[in-house]
Amino acid sequence: MNPAARPGSDTSIAPPRALDADRVREQFPILRRQIGDRPLVYLDSAATTQKPQSVIDAVSRYYEEINSNVHRGVHRLSEEATNAYEGARKKIRTFINAKDWQEIVWVRGTTEGINLVAQSWGRSRLGKGDEVLLTTMEHHSNIVPWQILCEQTGATLRIAPIGDDGSLLLEEFEKVLSDRTRVVAVTHASNALGTVNPIREIVALAHAVGAVAVIDGAQATAHLPVDVRDLDCDFYAFSGHKMFGPTGIGALYAKREHLEAMPPWMGGGDMISMVTFRETHYSDPPFRFEAGTPNIAGAVGMGAAVDFITGLGIDAIGAHERGLLEHGTARLGEVEGLRLIGTAPHKSAVFSFVLEGIHPHDIGTILDRRGIAIRTGHHCAQPVMQRFRVPATARASVSVYNTRRDLDDLVEGLEEVNRFFR
Ligand code: ALA
Repeated sequence: MNPAARPGSDTSIAPPRALDADRVREQFPILRRQIGDRPLVYLDSAATTQKPQSVIDAVSRYYEEINSNVHRGVHRLSEEATNAYEGARKKIRTFINAKDWQEIVWVRGTTEGINLVAQSWGRSRLGKGDEVLLTTMEHHSNIVPWQILCEQTGATLRIAPIGDDGSLLLEEFEKVLSDRTRVVAVTHASNALGTVNPIREIVALAHAVGAVAVIDGAQATAHLPVDVRDLDCDFYAFSGHKMFGPTGIGALYAKREHLEAMPPWMGGGDMISMVTFRETHYSDPPFRFEAGTPNIAGAVGMGAAVDFITGLGIDAIGAHERGLLEHGTARLGEVEGLRLIGTAPHKSAVFSFVLEGIHPHDIGTILDRRGIAIRTGHHCAQPVMQRFRVPATARASVSVYNTRRDLDDLVEGLEEVNRFFR
């Protein structure tokens, strides 16, 4: 949500208030943990963020006081559960500035959101000769569902390349784009490189050839303002657990006209208006896409996560993380043999790197002994590894609760790794 981008809003917005990361940290009980005799240094927020007390409390309170099924009962608890669940949906709507709450479909996470689009929007529309355009930097969640769809429909996958710094090569992207392109599916921010893509521009290019734009927002919503109306994307999928909410819950934004024209992709309870053995009539969106008892507590928790982000201010979070990006980039530059993979001018605070001659898993293991949690491996983005000709990287990723101290600890740990292996 970007207030500056809203029509009629005041554009002379004051700079974001500075965020006090030490006070923010107090809201995350897990950050008090020791790993062995060391305090936890959590640098793996791109894999999943930690949860503030307010989210933990919202989920517990739901189970302690409200737990019941939604849209089904006439009793008090069911009504309260429905209000909590639908209230959370409205929070998501406001958070990303969707026009209507009906444009928000609850899903298990980004992966399910993208699969839903591929199967429900794509399967009945794509055929031989049609193309789906991705970029080299996509997460497997934004590759495999489209590969499956291409196998099912005879459509072809096309890939737009990225440059040596991990930026999307827009001119190359435009060359691959054609009137055969039916879908452009692009990540907002790369989990493996940190690159932040120019989504508004990409969406406009997709629309100019009549394609729909599907955005993987998993790595964006906890870090950048997201305004789906300003981006004008057709679909935007994101996960609760990457933005301080629970696992197993996420949201898919889709323009209402798309949802209304899309068939269900899963059948079951709560997605119908009438069932006989001869035929079934489906509910209106978003319920048509939400078969079965949903993750109600998860939705409530994701709503509380939105409140948490809004309370701090997404611009303040972004400014804090940019400071960490600057500090971390400078400090990591001092480490012998370290090469950053992903140095795009527009990037989020993700440090993917290799240390010459040392396997990333060894780096991760030695850092873990110091209480430092990073991710090592291919980050579910094997084409990125292939592009940079590395088997894997070590990746430190930060969030609102990280401080410069955490990155200094990381550098100290990497110096130990170097001493150990060199
Ligand atoms: N996609 C998550 C990551 O980047 C799991 O770590």
